[in-house]
Amino acid sequence: MRLLLIGPPGSGKGTQAVRIAEHFGITHIASGDLLRRHVAEGTSIGQSIEEYLNRGDLVPDGVVMDVLRKPVTAASRSGGYVLDGFPRTVEQAEAAYLVAKTLGASVQIALHLDVDRAELVRRVLARGQATGRADDTEEVINHRLQVFEDHTRPLLDYYAHREGLITVNGARPVDEVSWSVIVQLQRVQRQLDA
Ligand code: AP5
Repeated sequence: MRLLLIGPPGSGKGTQAVRIAEHFGITHIASGDLLRRHVAEGTSIGQSIEEYLNRGDLVPDGVVMDVLRKPVTAASRSGGYVLDGFPRTVEQAEAAYLVAKTLGASVQIALHLDVDRAELVRRVLARGQATGRADDTEEVINHRLQVFEDHTRPLLDYYAHREGLITVNGARPVDEVSWSVIVQLQRVQRQLDA
């Protein structure tokens, strides 16, 4: 199965992606983790994007596409992927579709984790205190949430009219969210296999 997760910061994309990947035997690919690794390792890409990450702005599309191309292609050839954090804009979705369709790697379903703003802020600030992640401050989280509203939310409509969109209430305990997600994805898998 090839799916992607759409949700604002703190909605649980990373948390649920790990569980989805394990359940369906597919590869978890997190754009934010891959970009943060470049920063931590001080690569030339990392040096060019650190400021974007720290401000909570989107990294330029070309950089993101370069970082993701290989892992997405490899995962498509070995059972599928759950993409966490990509695409972030309709432009990224369209560019990825053009590349992926020639490789038979295009996405089959999008999953939206819906969580209210107060809970998102609570989760992200709690993580910031625990881990010191640079973009988990009050000022930056407000900006990241606005970036989501302005640039990423339009993807919900985009996928609802294309490959399909499932929305799950992500404001429940982690296990309950996972249960809902997996039940709904099993249904999708049966349709894809039929
Ligand atoms: P990214 O790393 O993708 O961050 P994000 O989308 O802001 O998401 P988060 O990691 O904050 O949250 P999440 O939804 O994964 O939730 P999580 O499971 O971690 O992106 C960071 C930056 O990279 C961007 O700002 C941008 O600069 C750049 N970037 C990335 N992709 C890009 C792209 N495609 N294009 C351009 N730029 C890009 O959970 C959050 C916390 O909540 C955790 O502590 C977790 O334990 C807790 N939690 C999770 N679920 C629950 C639950 N059900 N109940 C209670 N707590 C929960």
